[in-house]
Amino acid sequence: MKVKIFILLGSIAILSCNNTPDRIPNEFLVYVWSGAVTDTSAAFAFKLTQEAAVRLVASTAEDFTKNLMYSDEVEVREENFFTAKASLDSLSPDTDYFYKLEIDGDLTSEPRLTGKFRTFASGPFSYKMIFASCAETGSSSQVFETIREQDPLFFLNTGDLHYANISSNCEYAYANAFFDVQESATQSQLYRSVPIAYIWDDHDFGPNNSAKDSNCRNEAIDAYKNFVPHYPLAFGDEQDPVSQVFNAGRVKYILTDLRSQKVRPEYNGCEQTKEGTNFGSDKHLSWFKEQLLEAKYDSMVVAWVSGIPWISDERSRFYECDENDDWGGYEKERREIANFIRYYEIPVFILAGDTHILAIDDGSNSDYADGGGAPIPIFHAAPLDNYNIHKGGPYSHGYSAETHQFGLMEVSDTGGDQVCIRWTGLNQYGRVLTNNSGAPMTYEFCKKIY
Ligand SMILES: [Fe+2]
Repeated sequence: MKVKIFILLGSIAILSCNNTPDRIPNEFLVYVWSGAVTDTSAAFAFKLTQEAAVRLVASTAEDFTKNLMYSDEVEVREENFFTAKASLDSLSPDTDYFYKLEIDGDLTSEPRLTGKFRTFASGPFSYKMIFASCAETGSSSQVFETIREQDPLFFLNTGDLHYANISSNCEYAYANAFFDVQESATQSQLYRSVPIAYIWDDHDFGPNNSAKDSNCRNEAIDAYKNFVPHYPLAFGDEQDPVSQVFNAGRVKYILTDLRSQKVRPEYNGCEQTKEGTNFGSDKHLSWFKEQLLEAKYDSMVVAWVSGIPWISDERSRFYECDENDDWGGYEKERREIANFIRYYEIPVFILAGDTHILAIDDGSNSDYADGGGAPIPIFHAAPLDNYNIHKGGPYSHGYSAETHQFGLMEVSDTGGDQVCIRWTGLNQYGRVLTNNSGAPMTYEFCKKIY
């Protein structure tokens, strides 16, 4: 190891002290992004312009002079579109790390290509994260720069990472969609500088309002596994949902894949003749309930990431009686979940996207349990870069029907018997949004720890 460190330091010195242009390996790296961060580990996915043997190198120093850590070596091959993934474990909690790629033995030297992330603290801690959905494919909006400048612990994309709407030429189309996203300078810099968590919605899983019957379902699942630095998936088979969970402090994030298994309801006019399901199977729904219950018994609160709008019924704007995409068309499944949450007193809130507004409900409009008792706070944050469309609601704290907006969540946890949350809607300049009544888009609440 010492010899290797010496060689690395030597190559950094050579690359920074002479004036020869960077022959290698800067020009070989197309992009790299990190994700799946825990208190001791992180994952990375990257693309080169050619085949190579690669290691991910991390350091606690920006100049890579100390605590160097290496991933296992991985082979980048043309048959995988010159992409590969790597991971690091045995990291220290609550620590800033910088990372680069070592390509065929040489480190990338350009500061622009150095990534960074911070490991989560172990146990209770306070932090801020940012989440949002819905950006035009390859958008280079300033909103991504503003999110990076906010320096969140991680960025959660709740769907519509792109609008490729893929239904043919599946394998190539998904690869190209990811590459198009990373071609945006503001997005690739964000994803290199802030670790991601990501669950798809309709346009990045398949076409508009896509479901299990999407032509390219299997290739979508494959591409997700190949190109995204995701948390461990809940299920192992190739056609299983890409649902996953992770903990950051005492908040358990449950990312549910409500697209790849979704079966739509059927209607005769307004009369539902066949029920639909967003989870798609008992196996998937039971897994979700188990995660909710485990969270409570593990003394966590739950951030349920449900891309699609939960509040959808006769009170909602643009509600249609044959609703089949958001939760409004899946009343039985929604009621079953709400009853479960009420019965077990699960401390849960929802982070959502899909509808192109930023909206907050304190639970006054979201209670779908039989007879009430499951008021769930909901924060919708969209669109990052798209037209606005106001679906769902009503929302107790109103909405902002603009574009280039995102949600900031500040978690305040001193280890006591509650975790407190503050939600704020921000625009692309980092300013607090106002709702449709002119009030600031912000809301604070606490959830009890059991
Ligand atoms: Fe969208």
